[in-house]
Amino acid sequence: MTDSQLYEKALEAMNSSYSPYSACKVGAALLCKNGKVYTGANIENAAFSPTVCAERVAFFKAICDGEREFTKIAVAGGKNGKVVGPFPPCGVCRQVMAEFCSADFSVILGDAKGQLLSLTLGELAPLSFSPENMR
Ligand code: THU
Repeated sequence: MTDSQLYEKALEAMNSSYSPYSACKVGAALLCKNGKVYTGANIENAAFSPTVCAERVAFFKAICDGEREFTKIAVAGGKNGKVVGPFPPCGVCRQVMAEFCSADFSVILGDAKGQLLSLTLGELAPLSFSPENMR
């Protein structure tokens, strides 16, 4: 699956966002090594802290299905559902990625014109705390 195909799925997943507090609609599409794609959207909460980001919803759906090997994730988002630039993963989502992915895992972001940016997890989360540190 190409980066742009995966990014299209992230854009579609923005429609599933439950974001009455921030009005930021975020969608994510996670590609497993076996070719399956899991999508996620951010789910907010009146108490704020239970809010879960789109990336983690996609990861946790996949993990619960037994998936453990991942190639790349595309993320799209913006206030009121309008994509004006890259919507980069928060630190907690980067940490979740570091649990399950190696440094060459790709994160695909896009701008308003649909131009894609591809970064590795190693670039987004250098020297991250990982399962290796618990051995
Ligand atoms: N959000 C995500 O879905 N992914 C991120 O990595 C950054 C933030 C969501 C959480 C919240 O619903 C909204 O964006 C504003 O922070």
